[in-house]
Amino acid sequence: MSSQLKKWKSAEIAAFQEQFLFWYYQHKRTLPWRGTNNPYYIWISEIMLQQTRVDTVIGYYYRFIDKYPTIQALAEAEEESLLKVWEGLGYYSRARNLKVAAQQIVAEFDGRFPETFEEIQTLKGIGPYTAGAISSIAFELPEPAIDGNLMRVGSRLFGIDADIAKASSRKIFDEAFREIISHEAPGDMNQAFMDLGSSICTPTSPDCANCPLKDFCQAYQTNTQLNYPVKSKKVPPKDVYYVAGIIENSQKEFLIIQRPEKGLLAKLWHYPLEEVSEATFKEYQTNYVKQEQKLSLDLVAESELFEIFNELPIVWQTRHLGEVKHVFSHLRWHVLIFYGRTNQKFDYEGGHWIAGKDFETITFPTIQQKLVAKFLENQKVRKVL
Ligand code: ADE
Repeated sequence: MSSQLKKWKSAEIAAFQEQFLFWYYQHKRTLPWRGTNNPYYIWISEIMLQQTRVDTVIGYYYRFIDKYPTIQALAEAEEESLLKVWEGLGYYSRARNLKVAAQQIVAEFDGRFPETFEEIQTLKGIGPYTAGAISSIAFELPEPAIDGNLMRVGSRLFGIDADIAKASSRKIFDEAFREIISHEAPGDMNQAFMDLGSSICTPTSPDCANCPLKDFCQAYQTNTQLNYPVKSKKVPPKDVYYVAGIIENSQKEFLIIQRPEKGLLAKLWHYPLEEVSEATFKEYQTNYVKQEQKLSLDLVAESELFEIFNELPIVWQTRHLGEVKHVFSHLRWHVLIFYGRTNQKFDYEGGHWIAGKDFETITFPTIQQKLVAKFLENQKVRKVL
C-alpha cells in the first residue's frame, strides 16, 4: 500500500469484510447474471455493462444468451445478426470483439473459458477491470475490479487524493483494494462495491448515514466526502456539424452509405452525411426557422450544400425535416436533415438503395435511428397539416 495511506490492521480487515458482505447479502440487487458462475454469461454481462446502465442491459443480456447460448455459438455468429442483437447498445466494437474473443477461446483454449486473470486479459476486448470482474465472480480469484466507480469509493474509503483521471493512479487503488478484498468471496465483494457505488457512495450526494462502511471510511470520519474523488476535467466533446441527405427514388427506396472499415461506427450504415462548418450550419439553421414551410429549394440549390451530390439528379424538397444531435464519448454531432427526390437510381460509391420497409433488416447505429425517427415524425405532421 502506498506509504501515506493508513495501513489497516488484520482485525480491522476482517471486521470490514464481515460487515460489508453482510450488507451485500441483505441488499444486493437481483440481476440475471448474479445467479450463475458460468464465465461465459458473466463475460457477456460485464462487456455489456462496460458502457451501459444495468436497467438497459437486462433485456439485451437475455436476448444475447438466448441467441448465442455458448462460446461456440458466438464464435460462429454471423456478423450482421450479431450486430442486430446489439442494436441500440452502442459501442459496436464491443460486439465484434466478443466474437473475436470467442474464436480465440476456441482456437487457443480448446473452447473452455480461461481461468486465470492473465489468460482472461489476453482476450480481445478485455482489460484489467473486466478481467478482474470475471476472474473474481466466475472463479473466486481475489482480483479487484477497478473502474471509475470503485476509484470514487476507494478515494473516500482510504482517503486517496490521486487524480483518478490519470492512468497512473490506478496502481494506488489496486494496491489498496488488494489488501482488503475477501479471499473467500471476492466476486461478491467486488459486486458489493459496485452496488455501494451506484446506490450509496454516489458522486454528488453520498448517503453516508446508511453506508455500511462509514466506520471504516477516512472521508466520512473527517467529513470530507465531497472532496473525493480528485478528478481533473475531461476535455469536453468536440462539436461537429453535418447535413444529412435523405434521398428517395421513385421506387420508394432510400440511399444509405456504409462507413469505412475502421474508426467511429466502423462498417455501419446511415444516410449520406456531409460535414459543414459551424457557420454554414448556423446559417442553414437560421434560414430554416425564418422560412419555415417554404425553406426554399433555392436555398438548397444555390448553396454549396451537398457538394458530394453535385451533378446528381436530385431535386431537394422545400421542407424542413429538423435537426438531430448525438453525443459520442469525444464528439457531439449536430445534424440538419434535408430531403430530396430522384428519378434515377444512380450509383453511389459505398452506397446502397434500400426500401423503407426493409430498414429493419439492417443494423443501424443510434444516430441513424434518430434521423429515421425525425424523418417519420415530420412526415406524419405534414400529413395532418
Ligand atoms: N456493473 C458492472 N458489472 C456489474 C455487475 N456484475 N453487477 C452490477 N453492476 C455492474
